[in-house]
Amino acid sequence: MPHSVRAVVARAKGEPVTMEVIEVPDPGPGEVLVTVQACGVCHTDLHYREGAINDDFPFLLGHEAAGTVEEVGDGVTNVAVGDFVVLNWRAVCGQCRSCLRGRPWYCFATHNATQKMTLGGAELSPALGIGAFAEKTLVAAGQATKVNPAAPPEVAGLIGCGVMAGLGAAMNTGGVGRGDSVAVFGCGGVGDAAIAGSRLAGAHTIIAVDIDDRKLDIARNFGATHTVNSTNEDPIEAIRGLTGGNGVDVAIEAVGLPATYEQAFYSRDLAGTVVLVGVPNPEMKVELPMIEVFGRGGTLKSSWYGDCLPSRDFPMLIDLYLQGRLDLDRFVSETIALDEVEEAFHAMERGEVLRSVVVL
Ligand SMILES: NC(=O)c1ccc[n+]([C@@H]2O[C@H](COP(=O)([O-])OP(=O)(O)OC[C@H]3O[C@@H](n4cnc5c(N)ncnc54)[C@H](O)[C@@H]3O)[C@@H](O)[C@H]2O)c1
Ligand SMILES: [Zn+2]
Ligand SMILES: [Zn+2]
Repeated sequence: MPHSVRAVVARAKGEPVTMEVIEVPDPGPGEVLVTVQACGVCHTDLHYREGAINDDFPFLLGHEAAGTVEEVGDGVTNVAVGDFVVLNWRAVCGQCRSCLRGRPWYCFATHNATQKMTLGGAELSPALGIGAFAEKTLVAAGQATKVNPAAPPEVAGLIGCGVMAGLGAAMNTGGVGRGDSVAVFGCGGVGDAAIAGSRLAGAHTIIAVDIDDRKLDIARNFGATHTVNSTNEDPIEAIRGLTGGNGVDVAIEAVGLPATYEQAFYSRDLAGTVVLVGVPNPEMKVELPMIEVFGRGGTLKSSWYGDCLPSRDFPMLIDLYLQGRLDLDRFVSETIALDEVEEAFHAMERGEVLRSVVVL
């Protein structure tokens, strides 16, 4: 029997999201039905509703979620009914060319549910293959990662996207280690997670850069040792000044703009690493003197989902949270109801929140 549940849908480009009753099928082979307990509002949900990702409307939004497994389909072994899970958008296939090369965190053929959730008979496109602004959602079994149920859902769900992207940009992609210096451009949820990840990894100097003093104050709480408001001073000069004239070992761009990418490029030390985690739009271009790309050496990388492996990283990060070593509570600016997602998008645009989290 399909389940009729309340959900947040983006029906058309740029239009406010609406509350709908959608149909969620019972899980088929390899699928899991999850009762959603909490789901964070991520910038990517807004990108979907603006038509910036693709035109496959209607979208079922929401993808930073935690909940409990309600039913499992045939052949599911990684989770069982009643498990507390965090959803992910990297259910690795184990068979693509990247998985076969031993690099499953780049998996090029990740799994989603095979059956479609529907609205009035029309197939919904779930955001990032999840769609969790809904009382229940259907995912591939590998998209559900069991974690310690002692973590509150509104906190645990955040590991499922933005916080993982930021933590992983520092800890996995950037390879930040003991004694490193790091600069993070953009101190939203993703940038602050990169700061928290740098601290966890043992960075000595962590420089937060933003254009909003409110964000810089929050960044200090996550572990920034220095802050730079780049509307008041040149961040490249400021970062060199804070690092003996050299620049940082790892520069992390968490905005998604050419200007901040260039700042990151010029803020790093010789042989340093630049990590792009902010998502650009298709029109953006960067222009760099090729001699600088060569002469500075080092590495220019992009970070997809923090190069995470959910089965490896989610339970570990939840344990660090429960041990008091990773402050996830501070990412939750407010908890809201399912019908308040549209207003949460506006709060995000006004720069008022790190994360609004829907609690069901
Ligand atoms: N790579 C991934 O896997 C991944 C995953 C999730 C999100 N993202 C992307 O990460 C980026 C950040 O996401 P978020 O949720 O933290 O967004 P956000 O809007 O909450 O934060 C962006 C921050 O950048 C600051 N900012 C804006 N312009 C700036 C400038 N010129 N210089 C310095 N700071 C500036 C803002 O004040 C804000 O604090 C987005 O592009 C998002 O799409 C990437
Ligand atoms: Zn694969
Ligand atoms: Zn997201």
